[in-house]
Amino acid sequence: MVLIDGKQTAADIKKEIAAEVLEIVANGGKRPHLAAILVGHDGGSETYVASKVKACEECGFKSTLIRFEDDITEETLLEAVEKLNEDPDVDGFIVQLPLPRHISEQRVIEAIDPTKDVDGFHPVNTGKMSIGLPCFKSATPAGIITLLERYHVPTKGANVVVLGRSNIVGKPVASLLMQKGEAGDATVTVCHRETRDLKDICRRADIIIAAMGRPGFVTEDMVKEGAAIIDVGTTRVPDATRKSGFRLRGDVDFDAVAPKCSFITPVPGGVGPMTIVSLMRNTLQAAKERAAKA
Ligand code: GUN
Repeated sequence: MVLIDGKQTAADIKKEIAAEVLEIVANGGKRPHLAAILVGHDGGSETYVASKVKACEECGFKSTLIRFEDDITEETLLEAVEKLNEDPDVDGFIVQLPLPRHISEQRVIEAIDPTKDVDGFHPVNTGKMSIGLPCFKSATPAGIITLLERYHVPTKGANVVVLGRSNIVGKPVASLLMQKGEAGDATVTVCHRETRDLKDICRRADIIIAAMGRPGFVTEDMVKEGAAIIDVGTTRVPDATRKSGFRLRGDVDFDAVAPKCSFITPVPGGVGPMTIVSLMRNTLQAAKERAAKA
């Protein structure tokens, strides 16, 4: 069994990005600039955004964090998005999700200039991705594909089962894996809460990508001997032994499943760090495209 080390892979890629940024700056270019909008004080979102800001420092990017309280109106948030769309110094930006219930996430996402949408959530980018055109691929699916590539997990002709059909993980990762070419060419089945015979479907899988947000859902009896397992779950579960009072738990019953696998990602330290690195890659790409147009 090979433990897929997302933390190390992410550190390696951040070094590659930092080297490229050094070269850009040495040649008189501008540092890539990522901005993030954070609404409210959700614990998970605070942690993610802090990690994104830290990753910017590690990659040599400029970063700007724009904060609003929970009671911000949709109109004010849309104005902030518009300002970032028009700011020539900002190469890419994200609006951290989830947003408060009174704000339409879809309206906010669609207000982002697709050329600055480094999260790859705008329908222009998701549409381009689904037909294999160059675009910003959303960060978690792109991070998963990078791990499969770097660890040479065979996908060609493989039966891949994706658990979960979210717009930010399940659907896009299914779409990338079925495309022609490297880290693609798979036969993909997407399962969700209405799926019948889910255990049987999982038992036929060469690769399972678990992204439902249900801690420990994938048990040993659902996994074929030699399967590769990618665990996207990061649910906070109470843990009195931790200072924070919680720990992150994946969608896979790791201890029972790991001995059966060819490859498996841990939680934390698997997919999570790769998500952030994909965002950095997209920001570098946005900066390069912006510089080429200037
Ligand atoms: N919330 C959970 N994951 C993400 C992400 O990748 N991007 C943004 N903007 N919000 C998120």
